Amino acid sequence: MRYAELHRKSVTDPEGFWMAQAQAIDWDRPPSKALFDDNAPLYEWFADARVNTCWNALDRHVAAGRGDQLAVIHDSPITGTQEKITYRDMRDRTAQLAGALRDKGITAGDRVIIYMPMIPEALVAMLACARLGAIHSVVFGGFAANELAVRIDDAQPRCIIAGSCGIEPGRVVPYKPLLDAAIDIASYKPDFCVIFQRDQARGELTPGRDHDWHAVQQGVSPADCVPVAGNHPAYILYTSGTTGQPKGVIRPTAGHLVALQWTMKNIYNVDPGDVFWAASDVGWVVGHSYICYAPLIAGNTTIVFEGKPVGTPDAGTFWRVIAEHGVKSFFTAPTALRAVKREDPKGTHVGRYDLSCLKTVFLAGERADPATIQWAEKQLNVPVIDHWWQTETGWAIAANPTGYDALPVKLGSPAVAMPGYDIHVLDEGGHPVAPGTLGAIALRLPLPPGTLPGLWNAEARFRKSYLDAFPGYYATGDAGYLDEDGYVYIMARTDDVINVAGHRLSTGGMEEVLASHSDVGECAVIGVADELKGQVPVGLLCLNAGTDRPHAEIVAEAVALVRERIGPVAAFKLATVVDRLPKTRSGKVLRATMVNIADGTPYKMPATIDDPAILDEIAAALKTLGYPQG
Ligand code: COA
Ligand code: AMP
Repeated sequence: MRYAELHRKSVTDPEGFWMAQAQAIDWDRPPSKALFDDNAPLYEWFADARVNTCWNALDRHVAAGRGDQLAVIHDSPITGTQEKITYRDMRDRTAQLAGALRDKGITAGDRVIIYMPMIPEALVAMLACARLGAIHSVVFGGFAANELAVRIDDAQPRCIIAGSCGIEPGRVVPYKPLLDAAIDIASYKPDFCVIFQRDQARGELTPGRDHDWHAVQQGVSPADCVPVAGNHPAYILYTSGTTGQPKGVIRPTAGHLVALQWTMKNIYNVDPGDVFWAASDVGWVVGHSYICYAPLIAGNTTIVFEGKPVGTPDAGTFWRVIAEHGVKSFFTAPTALRAVKREDPKGTHVGRYDLSCLKTVFLAGERADPATIQWAEKQLNVPVIDHWWQTETGWAIAANPTGYDALPVKLGSPAVAMPGYDIHVLDEGGHPVAPGTLGAIALRLPLPPGTLPGLWNAEARFRKSYLDAFPGYYATGDAGYLDEDGYVYIMARTDDVINVAGHRLSTGGMEEVLASHSDVGECAVIGVADELKGQVPVGLLCLNAGTDRPHAEIVAEAVALVRERIGPVAAFKLATVVDRLPKTRSGKVLRATMVNIADGTPYKMPATIDDPAILDEIAAALKTLGYPQG
């Protein structure tokens, strides 16, 4: 019952609820009130406060006498190295880099793109921006130069901070040539770059533009924290939408601090000093919130893990890291556990380690299938808790508040609404549906602190994508249902976004790339069910009339094109040529029906289909690719 009361208060008295939570943050000027609703349906929280994120993540812990506590542990099985960094050391490194950026002219509000692998310097770079009030935008290393260029043009960064390379199993990925190519492609040019050289592949520095990470910091005086307004953007994080143009989600400074601080104890059940590990990447929202910011704001030790669930060196890596560093709460994606389960179904690696420190495992990023949850619970003998959120929200919409009031787990559900989230399921007309009935999941406005106030340079798109569908609500883009107890079930996306190995990708974006191939007249990309990755993209290509080149050649080129333009992370490996695509009489491609065919799930013949016979052709084509599986 404690949870029900908490949630009721958060939605009936948001002002009182969030002002109370704000006490946990160090303010340069405390907020006079929580919610600013003058511009509804655009909302802001704690807008008139002044505050610095880096102070709250690092300096205040040092000031409180905890400078010797570990802030960051870098564990890199892929390079065979480890590094342990105290709060004092993190503060000093961050202040030093911030000093260098300041001396090169970076001030509050300037954008800085960060393109780095899973090394502690990525966190130092993020926090150095926060220290100055500069707005960072981290770009995931698995994206190609073109995607980086799109983000450069949108964010217009004065500076780019990059690692010279990332390391994937079996190959080094030189980032520097990708960065150079991206700057060439982009119309906007940054003033300067800072390059962290790694021995595995050092980058060639462009004189006058590129500076070595260490050299640029030599002899500069460390920078102090610069307080910014509560509604100042802390960062921009690009995420996939319906088109190839990614959406720049804005994270507001003060709401981010207040919300993340609340989550560490109440959702993840860790206290200051506890070790918390999110095995994600700083390029994703999970990495922003739960590798970098939240654990540090709350005074935990966070782990920066540079490796994979399997193959670095084996399926016991997760358990080794947990045992070796004393991890209390562990956060990963279901796909990572499926990878471990596939390699070590009997859990023989689990027995090699003393996992008594581990109390809870948290899963998010994609639907957590009950079989994987049950397998992990059996192996690890701790609760495995699903929770649901998005880049846009920055923290859980629905979760089980295990540190506040652990609720019964219902398999298949990421549990209940977190404070300030008022979850509704609506039909196409925007009317609430009965419990158990499938519909669009929408959140009644305002969203709680920390969630996006808008999209970077794209207010009209923000309104169109999220606010216009159901006036008074934020449309999540997810479909599902609520049960009688208020547990939510997330079943599918309502747009062209797919989720591949916990990575959010746009099928529309892939279609744009495929359509640029000179032999492709028309195409569709669908997300089909995959046992390991949840979904994988499959391309269906219709060729231009008169194209007589071998289909296999064109398919191979199409696959290479997506890898080159979007990046390896798209995991686009399957495509086939078809004569025509199934469409409605008004010309809309019937992607959902093709997904049903590929997944082998029953479907109703769409009433508006132009020519039902095409579906047989599509089924035959998908069969050649091995779908439905099994
Ligand atoms: N830099 C460069 N390339 C990258 C990359 C990075 N940071 N991350 C992934 N890639 C590449 C991979 O090497 C792979 O390339 P390949 O096609 O040459 O093999 C491709 O992108 C696809 O990667 P991925 O989808 O991760 O597949 P995988 O087969 O390499 O690994 C898993 C499968 C399940 C082990 C892996 O996807 C995983 O650990 N997933 C968890 C994801 C996660 O934590 N998501 C965060 C959301 S909470
Ligand atoms: P991202 O913005 O990359 O975090 O992706 C967000 C999307 O991933 C959500 O809108 C959902 O479609 C999906 N997702 C995230 N967590 C879950 C979950 N626990 N269960 C089901 N889907 C999820």
